[in-house]
Amino acid sequence: MIEYKSPDQIRLMRRAGLVVADIHDALRENIAAGMTTKDLDAIALEVLESAGATSNFYGYYGYPGQICTSVNDVVVHGIPGERELQPGDLVSLDCGAVLDGWHGDAAFTVVLPGGDEAVRAERERLSKITRESMWVGIAAMANGKRVNDIGSAIDDFITELPEDKQPDILRDYVGHGIGSSMHQEPDVLNYRVRGRSPKLKNGMVLCIEPMLAAGDQATKVLDDDWTVVTTDGSDSAHWEHMVAKHSQGIWVLTARDGGAEGLAPFGITPVPL
Ligand code: MF3
Ligand code: CO
Repeated sequence: MIEYKSPDQIRLMRRAGLVVADIHDALRENIAAGMTTKDLDAIALEVLESAGATSNFYGYYGYPGQICTSVNDVVVHGIPGERELQPGDLVSLDCGAVLDGWHGDAAFTVVLPGGDEAVRAERERLSKITRESMWVGIAAMANGKRVNDIGSAIDDFITELPEDKQPDILRDYVGHGIGSSMHQEPDVLNYRVRGRSPKLKNGMVLCIEPMLAAGDQATKVLDDDWTVVTTDGSDSAHWEHMVAKHSQGIWVLTARDGGAEGLAPFGITPVPL
């Protein structure tokens, strides 16, 4: 069942979304080589506590972190711990917040300065393409008719890149509806499939979250039962925003500017409620 939100409920979700934006800002400002992923978790917890919010990840099926910290070949669900960040590492940071019972969820990727220049350039390119593909998907939520139009648009965007430079779209993990719980219907695929999907309707709030691998998209889960890595060891990036569709347009709830900058290239102006 899809949970359709009223304008008031979307406004409440915006507040949760802004807590996630605050976590992202704090992480972006403070992340540096030499820190552990546990240090990042502590930064996130501080922001959550000062906002009077809690992490929706912590305790989710027993998940032990406040956020997910996924480095290099770790695709998603990296558990914060003693791993020390190195110069040139690609770090995907997936963060969530619950405020007054409403959930926020968003992710970004950052490449740390330093390290091997060629490796870093490749990682920056991968992150940039993943980020762009997320905005392509968000634009498709504004312009499309059905949920799968989002995945088709992302798929087309990747396929139109020069053939030797196409990252592979992860198939094992997808985006999702969100609201009074973190994972809701519908699934939001990042690739084209045959068959029908639900209509994009007002009141829908979706997490659009492409994950791309520099090599092959196949993944496996490590012995900790959480950490997802690419099977071939190639790098992977992850970007995610939580987006509401309402009678006047779309609103990117986890972007401080509501999505204005990311959507401008598509001629779309987000509409806050
Ligand atoms: N935020 C992730 C998502 O985008 C879910 C995190 S899994 C958890 O769906 F276990 F860490 F909570
Ligand atoms: Co999500």
